[in-house]
Amino acid sequence: MENPFVYGEVVPQSAFVDRHDELKRLAADLLAGQKVFLISPRRYGKSSLIRRALANAERAGCLTVEVTVSSYSSYLAFLEGYAKAVLAAETRVSRALSWLRDAIGATRPEVRLETEPGGASAVAVAFPAVRSARDVSRLAPEIFALPARLAEARGRRVVVALDEFQAIGGFNGGSVEEALRAAVQNQRQVGYVFAGSEPSLMEAMLGPKRPFYKAGPVMRLEKIPADLFASFIEQRFLKTGMKPEPGMGHAVVDLAGQLPYDVQRLAHEVWDDGRAEGRRRVGLDQLHQTLHRLLAEHAVFFEAAWQRLTLGQRGVLRALVLEEGRSLLSADVRSRYRLGGASSVQAALGALQKHDVVTRDQDRYVVVDSLMREWIARRTF
Ligand SMILES: Nc1ncnc2c1ncn2[C@@H]1O[C@H](COP(=O)(O)OP(=O)(O)OP(=O)(O)O)[C@@H](O)[C@H]1O
Ligand SMILES: [Mg+2]
Repeated sequence: MENPFVYGEVVPQSAFVDRHDELKRLAADLLAGQKVFLISPRRYGKSSLIRRALANAERAGCLTVEVTVSSYSSYLAFLEGYAKAVLAAETRVSRALSWLRDAIGATRPEVRLETEPGGASAVAVAFPAVRSARDVSRLAPEIFALPARLAEARGRRVVVALDEFQAIGGFNGGSVEEALRAAVQNQRQVGYVFAGSEPSLMEAMLGPKRPFYKAGPVMRLEKIPADLFASFIEQRFLKTGMKPEPGMGHAVVDLAGQLPYDVQRLAHEVWDDGRAEGRRRVGLDQLHQTLHRLLAEHAVFFEAAWQRLTLGQRGVLRALVLEEGRSLLSADVRSRYRLGGASSVQAALGALQKHDVVTRDQDRYVVVDSLMREWIARRTF
């Protein structure tokens, strides 16, 4: 029997919880040709939501294009990857080639048929004539116009998802944003979702002096409600032959800090252990046993992360865990944990956030990885 809990990849529909309103809104906006910004901290479920929205759009007759911006090592590689992704939406290769040549003939694209690892064939695009940064800037608007060309050539609406969009700033600063904004604003037949997992970078991109200011609706993805997640967990255990003790679902959600990824990870691992031991019931003892195994397995990794911190940052991080992220600047907390002045605590918090160890959750600070939080509470002094 297969483990019903999934983590570390886009969740399949069978393990997808809630997000009904978000999905409805995102899909409707995309069908209406809006340019939507989707923002949340890491591992909240942006990519999974996007995948569902694209599937809905396909059922409604749209062609869809999906690109993960952060996986390219240069601006040119991104443009080539983008062109390839748009071409992949055109099933007839000869047709794809003819409108590609029309659209960007001047830059002489080199097109090859490639066999992908899975055995499927795909069209790869390269621009050998593009050498200087200026050549790249000239090519960019032509590439960014492709989704509209596709919509026109096929007489269908198109939806484009650019995931990990915050990485765009690394390519060529402002000029990419400008070129892309200028291209997409005229594409009435094409819906876009720009998803990013570094909220501060994404919010800055939407500021008044930036090209994407007021380009379209902004969706900020929140956590999945604890009750829904907890009952999903209990139901899945029950369905797969392990009866959960009362409160088991909430215990998992709490221990995982309600972070979708961490919740599914913990549930997945508890299920594996329960299965291996042939259990018919699961409860808190099992949960703690699994937690200990996971902490031991991750110890090397957490130790290395801990070693990279300065002593000041370590002190603040421990206090943050033990005080549940509140009142860290107060005189009381600073003196009990011997943290020094408020400004040095502030600086340490800033550095911990920058290193993606800590994040803000409403009125408090939390450790991003709930396992790391437990490791710090138990293994550091
Ligand atoms: N709607 C959901 N229901 C249940 N679990 C979910 C849901 N969304 C996300 N998850 C859990 O969170 C994990 C991460 O999801 P996903 O990759 O979609 O997030 P993300 O925000 O794109 O993350 P990243 O910032 O790392 O790209 C999934 O593998 C799954 O375990
Ligand atoms: Mg993602």
